[in-house]
Amino acid sequence: MLSSKTIEIVKATAPVLQEHGNTLTRHFYNRMFSHNPEVLPYFNRTNQMAGKQQAALASAICAYAANIDNLGALKEAVELIAQKHASLQIKAEHYPIVGENLLASIREVLGSAATDEIVAAWGESYGFLADILINREAQIYRQAASVPGGWEGFRRFIVSKKQQESSVVTSFYLTPEDKGPLPSFKPGQYITIRVPTGDGLTTMRQYSLSAKPNQDWLRISVKREDGIAGTTPVGYVSNLLHNSLTGSVLDVAPPCGEFFLDHDLTDDRPLVLIAGGIGITPLMSMLQSSLDISPKREVALIHGCQNEDVQAFKSTVEDLTAQHANLSAHFRYVDPQQPLGSNGIGASKGFIDAPLLETMIGDRDADYYYCGPPAFLANMHRLLSRRNVPHEQQHFEFFGPKEDLASFAPG
Ligand code: HEM
Repeated sequence: MLSSKTIEIVKATAPVLQEHGNTLTRHFYNRMFSHNPEVLPYFNRTNQMAGKQQAALASAICAYAANIDNLGALKEAVELIAQKHASLQIKAEHYPIVGENLLASIREVLGSAATDEIVAAWGESYGFLADILINREAQIYRQAASVPGGWEGFRRFIVSKKQQESSVVTSFYLTPEDKGPLPSFKPGQYITIRVPTGDGLTTMRQYSLSAKPNQDWLRISVKREDGIAGTTPVGYVSNLLHNSLTGSVLDVAPPCGEFFLDHDLTDDRPLVLIAGGIGITPLMSMLQSSLDISPKREVALIHGCQNEDVQAFKSTVEDLTAQHANLSAHFRYVDPQQPLGSNGIGASKGFIDAPLLETMIGDRDADYYYCGPPAFLANMHRLLSRRNVPHEQQHFEFFGPKEDLASFAPG
């Protein structure tokens, strides 16, 4: 347990750290990457360049300090971090590297304001949080290795089939090179792919599993990131995958993630799946699983995207809607290219908004799962909160480090 003196110091100094949060974490990352370049391959360079990872760590530190005497409030945050760390194979031996660089950064950024007593209190607290994460991550590794078909670390998978899902999205069917069995996973979870970067290093990316669990293959569906001049770099891994040939071999770490459809929970309430663009991928796995496991459960799927050309799984959703009376779907396009509303599925122009939710769900009490770009998530969160959907019935996932939803202007 942390001493009351430590808790007092951390709470008292939290506002100072919050004030310097982004400077501190930027300094920390620069310092760590120059002193300990061995951790570089664990980090996504694109997220670093965009400052997203720094912001995620800064906000985790601030949340931790604010709740140091009520760690129960951080349960969800700890689970998200532990799952992300486990997906990247972060191990106990990495924690002292982060700890040393973090404490040195506190000294270097705050200068004389960071007294020995303050740094010691933060050191003790870091160790306390690190132990919580290390233990949870060890548990995740053990579970992933012990389930039937499970494994530890990286396993080699062959790209056994590529299937184009839209002009920008391709599915990759991955089968284990060792021909061994595959584990079940929770619909909504992701796997990590590790690829060489050509400079002797490797890099990793997470991709949601886009089909229900099965014994033949794992499927990911990847959007080719072409980049936008000045704002978004060309996606190194997505392009590498799109250009790869059937038969290529990839290093894959076991399924992880805390955004999943829990079939153990009640399925009395209708299930509402709302996707923005490529956010459809984990929802496809949830959709297929729900139709299989809870064939009577009412499901509504709303997919918002730019147009039919870039939309993945359009015909899959059309087929499923024709086969399952309990599934209703609606496509909403910013810039539709074809006549709307073909194949028995509602379609309309614009963004997903309150009237559409009202038409699809009415006043039914439902469980919501949504996934898409950060601004889309912020918008959905706002719309659903206005509909008084309780926090525990709203589940969403960021592709990339978690961001502050409140920082997005209403759209
Ligand atoms: C108490 C210590 C730590 C805390 C509080 C912490 C916090 C976080 C947070 C908040 C995220 C973002 C999660 C998300 O929103 O997806 C994250 C991701 C990550 N953390 Fe940690 N972390 C800690 C220790 C470590 C250690 C020891 C390493 C190993 C070098 C590490 C490496 C990473 C990596 C590679 C990511 C993913 C970043 C990316 O997408 O590039 N963390 N961590």
